[in-house]
Amino acid sequence: MAIHSTIAEAITVYTGLSPAAFFTVAALMVVVYKVVCGMFVDPGQKAVPSVAPAYLPAEPTEIGEVTEEELRGYDGSDSSKPLLMAIKGQIYDVSPSRMFYGPGGPYALFAGRDASRALALMSFDPKDLTGNIEGLSPSELEVLQDWEYKFMEKYVKVGQIVAKGTSSDSHVANPESHDDSIENKKNE
Ligand code: HEM
Repeated sequence: MAIHSTIAEAITVYTGLSPAAFFTVAALMVVVYKVVCGMFVDPGQKAVPSVAPAYLPAEPTEIGEVTEEELRGYDGSDSSKPLLMAIKGQIYDVSPSRMFYGPGGPYALFAGRDASRALALMSFDPKDLTGNIEGLSPSELEVLQDWEYKFMEKYVKVGQIVAKGTSSDSHVANPESHDDSIENKKNE
């Protein structure tokens, strides 16, 4: 017991705090230290990703005109290809938001699709995963419009959906097969 009261006295003399206050402050400092250290983990100690780095080029690739079916190939399952999604037939490169739309992401069901109807209805129902917006109410169309504005602002438009049989043979940029001005290209 003597040793305890000696330590308690020493704490009070040296810190001006009661032993209880001293230990509370010390515990808080340990917690803060742990939290701050956790924010600066040595990159060498970070877990090595087990999958190949996802496709994220400096500039999104213009895809031009594709059918809804062809667009499916850009749902993120092939990490060497861009991740695309369409609203009102306009295709956007959503590769920068792989955490939303990539495999396992909360909105992966929209990837490689025209998700206009689902977005307008705020629905995750597979039957609404279509670009068909027939029969939507004015307020639902307004919701869709807001999504379109968000996408125009956030992502680069890289192409558009065309009816089957009219798409260009190639999936890569073909300046003659589409409107080559990306009107809503970010930061332009
Ligand atoms: C419980 C309901 C929901 C919650 C809590 C929720 C939450 C969120 C959050 C936190 C984000 C990230 C926002 C950001 O950082 O920019 C987000 C993004 C998004 N949400 Fe939801 N959400 C919900 C329902 C829905 C529904 C019903 C839809 C459509 C059917 C939807 C479609 C989206 C889309 C498309 C994005 C990504 C937008 C982008 O690319 O920036 N969400 N949501």
